[in-house]
Amino acid sequence: MNQVSKTSVSDATPAEAGPDNVLHESLRDNVRILGDNLGRTIANDLGDDFVDRIETIRALAKRGRREGHEGRAALIDYLRRLPESELLPVTRAFNQFLNLANIAEQHYRSRFRRVEDYRPGFQPRLDELFQRVQEAGHDTHSLVERFASMRIDLVLTAHPTEVVRRTLIQKYDAIDDCLGELETTVDQPEHAERVRGRLAELVSQAWHTDEIRRERPTPVDEARWGFAVIENSLWEAVPQFYRDLDNLLLDNAGERLPLDASPIRFASWMGGDRDGNPNVTAEVTREVVLLGRWMAADLYLRDLEQLKHELSMWRATSVLRAEAGEAAEPYREIIKRLIRRVELTRDWAQARIDGEPFSRREEVIETREQLYAPLLSCYRSLCDCGLDTIANGALLDTLRRVACFGVTLTRLDLRQESTRHTAVFEELLDYLDLGHYGEWDEAQRQRFLLDELGSRRPLIPAHWECSPEARETLETFRVIGNEHAESLGSYVISMAGQPSDVLAVALLMKEMGGDVRLPISPLFETLDDLDRAGDVIEQLLKLPEYRGWIQDRQEVMIGYSDSAKDAGQLAAAWAQYRAQERLVEICHEQGVSLTLFHGRGGTVGRGGGPAHAAILSQPPGSVDNSLRVTEQGEMIRFKFGQPGIAVRSMEIYACAVLEATLLPPPQPKAHWREEMDRLAEKAHGVYTGVVREDPDFVPYFRAVTPETALSRLPLGSRPAKRRQEGGVETLRAIPWIFAWTQTRLMLPAWLGSGEAFAGRIESEEGMARLREMMNEWPFFGTYLDMLEMLLAKSDLDIAAYYEHRLIDEPPLVRLGESLRDRLRRLIEVLLKIRNQERLLENTPLIRQAIEVRNPYIDPLHGLQAELLQRNRDADGAISHELSRALMVTMAGIAAGLRNTG
Ligand code: PGA
Repeated sequence: MNQVSKTSVSDATPAEAGPDNVLHESLRDNVRILGDNLGRTIANDLGDDFVDRIETIRALAKRGRREGHEGRAALIDYLRRLPESELLPVTRAFNQFLNLANIAEQHYRSRFRRVEDYRPGFQPRLDELFQRVQEAGHDTHSLVERFASMRIDLVLTAHPTEVVRRTLIQKYDAIDDCLGELETTVDQPEHAERVRGRLAELVSQAWHTDEIRRERPTPVDEARWGFAVIENSLWEAVPQFYRDLDNLLLDNAGERLPLDASPIRFASWMGGDRDGNPNVTAEVTREVVLLGRWMAADLYLRDLEQLKHELSMWRATSVLRAEAGEAAEPYREIIKRLIRRVELTRDWAQARIDGEPFSRREEVIETREQLYAPLLSCYRSLCDCGLDTIANGALLDTLRRVACFGVTLTRLDLRQESTRHTAVFEELLDYLDLGHYGEWDEAQRQRFLLDELGSRRPLIPAHWECSPEARETLETFRVIGNEHAESLGSYVISMAGQPSDVLAVALLMKEMGGDVRLPISPLFETLDDLDRAGDVIEQLLKLPEYRGWIQDRQEVMIGYSDSAKDAGQLAAAWAQYRAQERLVEICHEQGVSLTLFHGRGGTVGRGGGPAHAAILSQPPGSVDNSLRVTEQGEMIRFKFGQPGIAVRSMEIYACAVLEATLLPPPQPKAHWREEMDRLAEKAHGVYTGVVREDPDFVPYFRAVTPETALSRLPLGSRPAKRRQEGGVETLRAIPWIFAWTQTRLMLPAWLGSGEAFAGRIESEEGMARLREMMNEWPFFGTYLDMLEMLLAKSDLDIAAYYEHRLIDEPPLVRLGESLRDRLRRLIEVLLKIRNQERLLENTPLIRQAIEVRNPYIDPLHGLQAELLQRNRDADGAISHELSRALMVTMAGIAAGLRNTG
């Protein structure tokens, strides 16, 4: 039965990487252990012959990598002759192996804290940074103050880029735990044997589980998933991070972080982001807010139960005794009372979710302070009685959790497209016979909105019978008025372009939201809008009525991926930089405190990159001890999915924000700016020339990438397009990038930059300038680092194979050739600027991580192109099995590249 296959699916993986193998032995061992288990599982399920075939495919893929064209032809030939019934299991085998390799890598990274080895750029640790900052002349007390007032908001979003199902993520986490246990059981053979048995069981469970969801998650499912990350990882990681920070401050400054300080907090878009997602309704948002309250109460109850058991001390201050009513065990008494209220709060949330009445409303805990105060009394009393050791244990952890998570776990942001607000006013003014809002110019709109903002009388009639769309938009504003302010974060306006877009939201909030005023965050996400962002905010800040409304605080969101889709990555990056500079300047002039909210995705094309490098490459002055940034899809798992790695991620953020605040990057020199203007203009011209103006481009994109098949992958609750009608322009940035990643052309992130650089490196002066910028300006240096990493993941041969298999119309073939040619030339140019022989020469670990995965990804590409062709031949009516195989190829390639869209 439990026979060992002749070969495992992994037998030689990373170990075979060749003479300059730099992968750590423990990582190689773990990949081998997991691969062996998978091999045995597959052999048990489908037999040795099947495993032999997998092995043949893998050997052919490796030969293909070694020998080039001929070797690849043999692989393709073999794949094309596979019987139809084997396509799904073959894709599954490779996909699962890649996922297991990821677990081993992730495990290695969290255990050995060697993140810096995997990422270009320096990723400091807090203790090292602390020293550097002190050397630069900042005294220790001011550093403690910086941490105390630091505000980092990590905003978890439901962006549909997580391909791995939650049920599998749980199994993968359990596998990771087993790997950890195996490392500590060297001297306990029986225990090690048990762990190995469990590992085999988990790998087998994963193999016998569908890797693709059958149905799309609902927004509430997505929100539950977000809460699960808090429950399973952040709940433990947050106090641990603060404990580390506290110790560091104590050692270096002799001071502790104030008890209620919480430099890092979490916000969420899951259940609040309705932009282009009709499934997120006011009802959903309301339910998610309540679920957050329920979940928070449930988690605190676990803490409080533990505290009730442990805080059995009798020594207490008179203040606490008085509070506890002279009970023999005063701490227990206080905690017991708190437990009763938190239980009641949980019951209240449940009743509201179920739509049932609840009678003891006044006892429900509504605010962070209500939960915090009794715990603080206990803490103070313990400290005052000399029981500091006890106070600074589990009780301090709970206090830190309350400071970070409040009574809602996260603050839920709301996001809606600007046109939806405009549409409400069009309809309303029509109904009230006040004019045609849609036809008014900007000045007219502003006048109207400002007058209404200043008016005491309501504008929207209570019984207005409006369209369902307008009703839905208004209902969302009603949620703002009905829910407690601590539950909600910012109101983000996507595709914002004019001051009236912001004023419209302010007015709707006033009309429907009662007294609650959420920060309004216009999101600038096209090249034009980014260029205008400064003026828009300046105009707004000069309006006294608006200034009164915002109370000297302005939040602005920068959209990385849509601007890159709109203008190409290079031009977008420069526009984002300039917009931020201008915003900082204006807010400074106006005496308004600015929070920049960065809408970054995981991949390079969507503004992704290591947090530290990304933050340090922003304009000086833009990180003023505060940061808001999205954490999306699979990045949530990579950065916060497990406590160990989450602690490290928080440390990286705190370091980066402190460093960018106290040791900001240099102001760009005038000639760097000129250079960037020139490069961006050239790159933008090339990008639009191809993407917008070449009539063959869209047909090429549709024919050669799995774009249409992708929309069937049930990754998230939202549709792939903002609107049903329309072409590539309405396609969201995620599927746009996802599609290009699958064919390895990776076009959006580089198109245009090759020509821009090529024009400059011919002259000595041009080359010298680029190198100066690369070495001295973090913005440009990081841009090149990210470009290089992305180019290392691109693959000309694979891109050519998709074309070969999927298109034969001469103009499309010609376009494909020219695009690949541009990519080839860009790689040459970049290597010249870098003075390197090969890509990622200075970050061999990343290079190797990509190289060792290639023989597992190549067969998936071959099969994907094949399945796309069969799908096309059958007019989209391929069998259910084949359709699943196609989806698995997409998931597998994404796993192999550790990126989706
Ligand atoms: P959005 O985000 O489509 O939700 O605006 C795009 C992205 O993050 O890539």
